[in-house]
Amino acid sequence: MIKINKLEIENVKRVKAVKIEPSSAGLTVVGGRNGQGKTSVLDAIAWALGGNKYRPSQAEREGSAVPPYLSLTLSNGLVVERRGKNSDLKVIDPNGQKGGQQLLDSFVEELAIDLPKFLNASNKEKAAILLRIIGVGQQLHELEQQEQEIYNRRHAIGQIADQKAKFAKEQIYFPDAPKEPVSASELIQQQQEILARNGENQRKRQRLTQFQALYTSQGQEVERLKAMLVDAETKYAQTGADLAAAQKDALQLHDESTSELEANIRQIDEINRKVRANLDKDKAETDAGEYRQQYEVLTNEINEVRQQKTDLLSNADLPLPGLSVENGELLYLGQRWDNMSGAQQLQVATAIVRRLKPDCGFILLDKLEQMDLKTLREFGAWLEQEGLQAIATRVSTGEECSIIIEDGYVSGQEGVTLQSQPGEIDPGETWAAPPAATTWKAGEF
Ligand SMILES: Nc1ncnc2c1ncn2[C@@H]1O[C@H](COP(=O)(O)OP(=O)(O)OP(=O)(O)O)[C@@H](O)[C@H]1O
Ligand SMILES: [Mg+2]
Repeated sequence: MIKINKLEIENVKRVKAVKIEPSSAGLTVVGGRNGQGKTSVLDAIAWALGGNKYRPSQAEREGSAVPPYLSLTLSNGLVVERRGKNSDLKVIDPNGQKGGQQLLDSFVEELAIDLPKFLNASNKEKAAILLRIIGVGQQLHELEQQEQEIYNRRHAIGQIADQKAKFAKEQIYFPDAPKEPVSASELIQQQQEILARNGENQRKRQRLTQFQALYTSQGQEVERLKAMLVDAETKYAQTGADLAAAQKDALQLHDESTSELEANIRQIDEINRKVRANLDKDKAETDAGEYRQQYEVLTNEINEVRQQKTDLLSNADLPLPGLSVENGELLYLGQRWDNMSGAQQLQVATAIVRRLKPDCGFILLDKLEQMDLKTLREFGAWLEQEGLQAIATRVSTGEECSIIIEDGYVSGQEGVTLQSQPGEIDPGETWAAPPAATTWKAGEF
């Protein structure tokens, strides 16, 4: 990983002369009061490494007799310089070979020198960058499409299930109605069978009447025909026996009623209306149950897809634990970007940006005063653990600052001329010992 070992800036924006040797990992905090030149230092670094598109609109310090001078020594041995009337770029490698902007671009991550570009990107763009880094963008996109598609299907099924349930609930139920519709022909056949049996009874009654008549007339015949008495008495006795049998038979006779059937026949339409209503209600309830079941199945499918999404992200190599992407939006600890604190935003941005160009071992962070000392310490410890060098500004003159900028100088270095002009002795050698940039680590304050 390439770091900034040393930087010298002269006459850029508010900076008069600043020399810093940032610590190779963790935070180097450039402190100072407002308007003293802190951000100018970062702007100068961005210009040195990022090319002319990062040239400040008014790069040369007002009132300066000499043009800007920038010199950065990188940990891979490269020396990056801008000097002279046109602030031309010179990139010199350790073997004396010259390189240009292209060489710098190969390892300098643009977002690392221009973090606001990331901070101001839309939430979707941030999420897309994260997904690109961890390499699961396409898979996550497919899972999200799948989830949306099942969700829509379930929504439609759910609506039908609700309608069916509502319809079933509104239907009236007749507990006394038969399970099946009644057939009129069956009732009529039953009626005809009873009428047939009753007809038989009727014939038997007529027979009784006939025997009674015969018996009477024969009795008279007995009176009248004494001569035929014996013969008549035999017949008479026989007839008497028949009479007795008929009488006995008649005693056991009783007629069945068809009144219930007749009532049923009259009510058949009414009954069938109830039967149909009950069948409709049963069907609607069954339907509603089936749709509800389908709904449950789809719910399980959605949960499965969601689990796959969670697994996909939790198995990915995330730049920072707690990062995730939901519906194309970046989340940290479950919160959207605009719900994160300023300190969280900086840490999330740093974590993501540092993965973009793994060779780029540094990042510039402006306005770190939004972190309290505890958060700052934790952030510094995390940077160190990541082996990342951060050069940060902070409106403060406290202990946490590695250097303090005052009126364009590093306080303690005032009046020192840095610019090394061709043919001159390197003034770097003649400096009054500049205060070594304090490196502070977790737990130091
Ligand atoms: N080319 C220039 N020459 C001289 N002064 C300049 C130049 N460009 C900007 N300034 C002044 O520098 C000051 C801002 O400098 P800079 O942004 O570096 O300060 P800062 O220490 O970061 O302040 P803050 O804490 O408010 O962010 C402003 O007062 C601005 O007018
Ligand atoms: Mg500033």
